[in-house]
Amino acid sequence: MKRPILIHPDPRLKKVATPVDDISDELRKLSDDMLETMYDAPGIGLAAPQIGILQRLIVLDCVKEEGEAPRPLVMFNPEVLAASDVTSTYEEGCLSIPEQYAEVTRPAEVTVRWMDRDGNAREETFDKLWATCVQHEIDHLEGKLFIDYISPMRRQMITRKSQKLKRERARG
Ligand code: NI
Repeated sequence: MKRPILIHPDPRLKKVATPVDDISDELRKLSDDMLETMYDAPGIGLAAPQIGILQRLIVLDCVKEEGEAPRPLVMFNPEVLAASDVTSTYEEGCLSIPEQYAEVTRPAEVTVRWMDRDGNAREETFDKLWATCVQHEIDHLEGKLFIDYISPMRRQMITRKSQKLKRERARG
């Protein structure tokens, strides 16, 4: 089931999410809904706070090439264990800030630990777009958005545009 995505500015997007201690069927269903919502958008990542659920859960799939098999990842309580000194810069966007993009510099490689949907501990090192995406999604769990990395002036401009779009959508 697709879920509505919160649009910035929204106080729920600024909150720190709570760790998940037991992966219930309800949470598994939520992760399925999040993947469906993300693919439909379309997007490459989605964090639970973006649909108003303040729990530490993200989903992502950064496979972009046409014809390549999808690789949906569901991460409960994801944590960055190590980050490279080498950085990379990507033009980032966010499903909660539609149509707005900005260049953000982040560590080029990160090692992440998480719990998968079966409750197994997983660990993997990500690079390229995957590294940027997983850091962007984990930031959502801390109430942090990609526009928090850019200049205040640019951030205000993007926020005004997002606010306007949000009003227009609310009016239908
Ligand atoms: Ni985002």
